[in-house]
Amino acid sequence: MEHENHYLWQHKDLLDVTQLSREDVRHVLDLAESFDAINHRPVKKVPTLKGKSVVLFFAENSTRTKTSFDMAGKRLSADTFALAKSGSSINKGESLKDTVWTLQAMNPDVIVIRHSSSGAARFIAERLDCGVVNGGDGWHAHPTQALLDCFTLRRAWQNAFEGRTLLILGDIAHSRVARSNAHLLSMLGVKVRMCAPRTLLPAGRETWPVEFVGDVREAVKGVDAVMCLRLQLERQEAGLLPSLSEYSRRFCLTPELLGLAKSGAPVLHPGPMNRGLEISAQVADCPQSRVLDQVSAGVATRMAVLYLLATRKDGGNQQ
Ligand code: NCD
Repeated sequence: MEHENHYLWQHKDLLDVTQLSREDVRHVLDLAESFDAINHRPVKKVPTLKGKSVVLFFAENSTRTKTSFDMAGKRLSADTFALAKSGSSINKGESLKDTVWTLQAMNPDVIVIRHSSSGAARFIAERLDCGVVNGGDGWHAHPTQALLDCFTLRRAWQNAFEGRTLLILGDIAHSRVARSNAHLLSMLGVKVRMCAPRTLLPAGRETWPVEFVGDVREAVKGVDAVMCLRLQLERQEAGLLPSLSEYSRRFCLTPELLGLAKSGAPVLHPGPMNRGLEISAQVADCPQSRVLDQVSAGVATRMAVLYLLATRKDGGNQQ
């Protein structure tokens, strides 16, 4: 691993990518590369976080993020404890604050939280001594998704971010993935372009480090990668789209549309995918698709994040 001599991870929590420097990002990605090697061994476990406890508090649905944090913790020998909204006392009227104090009293090293309210992760991080990872808060941020997307693109682009163009296509307005990726990738020198129907463009976008392109064919032309986003219907008010078939006719990433991008441009999707709506089945399964690589990258990247937060006080992450 290449690191500056005196690099030290300074963060108690990982709440948003905006708190990270380029050096922090490089450190996380390099660590994730070394942890990824463990994930491809016959015995996928090391004792690095033995004796550490990680709570996974997911108050919103999740397949990939929750499982990969769980697997990441276990592969480093941490004990992981999952708490879901259904089955917890949140359903008996307990406030977020009381739930979190209760968890803190059990003295975990890291709490990963996913919550439908923007700011929920910060709210608990400011009140607790342990490390807090934002596993997605409302529309606001999803820092580990952006880091794993960076990991995937760094490999696909042979380490060179500078001057590349990434198109993010789909429901930008409701997407914490789009927000986190816009900031992280543009900090690394990537030109981020976005395209969505007018009703799914985000408010306040003038301040985003992003180029918005209205016409979808113009938007795809010549890009070095395309990231598709799901229509996040559960986060939308009704009436933002005339119809789903109209949406897919214009915005679905088909082989024909992808053909306008640079040849071999990788295709990403954070999942869950709605085949035929924002991405066609042919594109989802084509050789350019990196969707499953993103899932593997998720385990390695979350191993790096858990390691950095859980060992911060031990002085164990100085390289
Ligand atoms: C994303 C999320 O939850 O924000 N999924 C994920 O974490 N892999 C995107 C989505 O829900 O569409």
